[in-house]
Amino acid sequence: MSSIGELNRRTFLKNAGITAVAGAAGALSSTAAQAAPAPHARMNGGKYDFDTVYNRVGSNCSRWDGAAAPYPEGVFKYGMGVASQDFECAPCITEALAERVQHHNWGYMAGAQTDTLVESIINWKGERNNLDLDPDSITVSDGVYPGMIAAMRAFVPAGGKALIITPAYSGFYSMARAANIGTVDSQMKIVAGRYEPDWADLESKMTSDVRVLIVCNPQNPTGNVWRADELERMGRLALDNDVVVLSDEIHCDVVRRDHKFTPFASLADRAVADNSISFTAISKTFNMAGLKNAYYYSSNPTLLGRVDQYHRAELSTLGMVATEAAYKHGGDWFDQANAYMDDNHQFIEDYVKANLPNVGYTRNEGTYMTFLDFSKVIAALGPEELMAAYDRETADQAFREWLVYNSGVYLNYGTSYGAGGEGHVRLNVASSRLILNEAFDAIAAAIRNA
Ligand SMILES: Cc1ncc(COP(=O)(O)O)c(C=O)c1O
Repeated sequence: MSSIGELNRRTFLKNAGITAVAGAAGALSSTAAQAAPAPHARMNGGKYDFDTVYNRVGSNCSRWDGAAAPYPEGVFKYGMGVASQDFECAPCITEALAERVQHHNWGYMAGAQTDTLVESIINWKGERNNLDLDPDSITVSDGVYPGMIAAMRAFVPAGGKALIITPAYSGFYSMARAANIGTVDSQMKIVAGRYEPDWADLESKMTSDVRVLIVCNPQNPTGNVWRADELERMGRLALDNDVVVLSDEIHCDVVRRDHKFTPFASLADRAVADNSISFTAISKTFNMAGLKNAYYYSSNPTLLGRVDQYHRAELSTLGMVATEAAYKHGGDWFDQANAYMDDNHQFIEDYVKANLPNVGYTRNEGTYMTFLDFSKVIAALGPEELMAAYDRETADQAFREWLVYNSGVYLNYGTSYGAGGEGHVRLNVASSRLILNEAFDAIAAAIRNA
């Protein structure tokens, strides 16, 4: 641990983004001055500490290092875009990895290890989602991407399309490109402060070239945790139009206190459930995207077999070890992390309502993303002027740049999430509250001073 701490600290001092972060966030600079603590140091009387800033700068992470790279020294201060958590991971993950590292050989692993992983997946899904999965219905993968790309290749012929309920995860467009298929958006409406599908539009978009419907549950970035009746309605429309449902459930565990996740596979209408494949992972739950592990499952062996034909997973020994450890021993850590992120959502809602009257807020039900409407702020700044000043094609792209240069806060711009993203930005709430507070203070000050 200490050598990793040293490495991070040295890089921290050299890296432009980090110096900027340290300057802006006092707690980060003091955290950076300490060596990384042992895994257990932050677990106190059974309670994990998510408040203390865990410095990731200099660890080659996408959220704080990758996003900072294009900016001159001192400009980028808060990496609030990329969907990863800033928390120190569950100790059981570090312990399992440390134990495996004692054995110094990294040759191909046997498939048998997959069986124990599948067993832990079945237990977790049973306990958490009341889902009784058959081991033969599960295919282990190295990401949601590879499984969904395989499904698009399997079900969408040349010239065909995937239908996406938007705003939705930008990666769906990358997946479609990788599968060499087209996409069509069905933009949601905001009804009584909540994003909802535009049902008539959704139905009208189910043309004969659309072969798959992507359901994102919970929906990234709008945070919808879809109710069973909504999922059945989406699924019935798809079934009636001979469209297969690809249900992306990677955010399934990150659900707020007053909401409940419904797996698409659990729907009472079995014909609807049998017309779907679900893609999920533990990577959002435990922040393990860098360890590459995921899986997909279906109650329909024919659909599953067709996806399997196009799918090849490149599993890694450490990813398997860590994933299994998290599923088996990480439940308590995650429940505490989830409660903390829920409180962060509440903090943001209160902050925006009290301090950012021109920013539109819709309440999240799940995911650790929040999708904020800055249209009024962009209109006041002048969309054309912004686009010209930052040489960007859309106003929300240019506004993202304006925010970085005027507040140091980096967010993801809305149009990357498809129709309905205009004027919006996506913000990641999975950080210490101190960082969130500082980032929002910086945004509020930039708007005040504009
Ligand atoms: C909805 C959704 N699906 C898939 C992914 C990426 O999955 P993976 O890293 O397992 O390929 C993300 C990552 O943010 C996501 O939000």
